[in-house]
Amino acid sequence: MLELDAVTKKFGGLVAVNAVDLHVGEGEILGLVGPNGAGKTTLLNLISGIYRPDGGRIRYRGEEISHLSMDRVCRKGIAKTFQHTHSFPGLTARESVMIGSLFGKSHHPTMDEASREAAELLDRVGFPRERIDMPLSNLNVIELRRTQLARALASRPKILLLDEMMTGLNPSESGEAVALIKSLRDDGLTVVVIEHVMRVILGVSDRLVVLDRGEKIAEGVPDRVVRDKRVIDSYLGERYA
Ligand SMILES: Nc1ncnc2c1ncn2[C@@H]1O[C@H](COP(=O)(O)OP(=O)(O)OP(=O)(O)O)[C@@H](O)[C@H]1O
Ligand SMILES: [Mg+2]
Repeated sequence: MLELDAVTKKFGGLVAVNAVDLHVGEGEILGLVGPNGAGKTTLLNLISGIYRPDGGRIRYRGEEISHLSMDRVCRKGIAKTFQHTHSFPGLTARESVMIGSLFGKSHHPTMDEASREAAELLDRVGFPRERIDMPLSNLNVIELRRTQLARALASRPKILLLDEMMTGLNPSESGEAVALIKSLRDDGLTVVVIEHVMRVILGVSDRLVVLDRGEKIAEGVPDRVVRDKRVIDSYLGERYA
């Protein structure tokens, strides 16, 4: 479904992502973990076309997408949520999702269609119906997360890239989020998820990839990866200590 071949991204002298090979199978939930600054967000930004790689290739269903702009990548079926939510606090939840629907697809719906679709998607991700016309500035964390997710889904992606969607949620909310992500996969989506809370990432991922200082240091089924010495030394030690 998605294949990265020796992908590298530099910021000045800093190599944020260093020759990373990665593949994501159709219908898989791939977890991406690693310490702060490991290059996780940069990697998703490369896949989604926000950045262009300085080296290597990214292929989606066999087609090279490394050089495509973000909106072209999005229209091909790859959507990303953003780690920080500081855009347009005056928009309502419904309007924010409508943007994804109006601009994220090659087929442009009418305003009425986009509005109806936004309501359906917000419903799908468990957003409370009576609050869909509230401004984003009035929403709590979980409602904002659900809005972000619905907005990404509005472009009708095949691959969903989630950057710390569950940060700031309490254990019961993050449990619901894990169930929701799995149900999206059951609907046919492929998911790549970055998350720091180990309980959450282990609960949701079929497979884990660990990055450290821009390099992939381990990958495999979660049970095995968490017992890998390099992973414990670079990342898990501090979390489980
Ligand atoms: N736009 C940018 N310009 C310059 N340096 C950047 C930029 N984006 C990221 N970096 C640097 O690249 C490295 C990787 O950052 P990145 O945000 O990908 O890490 P991360 O694994 O997502 O970390 P976190 O867990 O804290 O979100 C860091 O050293 C960061 O400071
Ligand atoms: Mg990040």
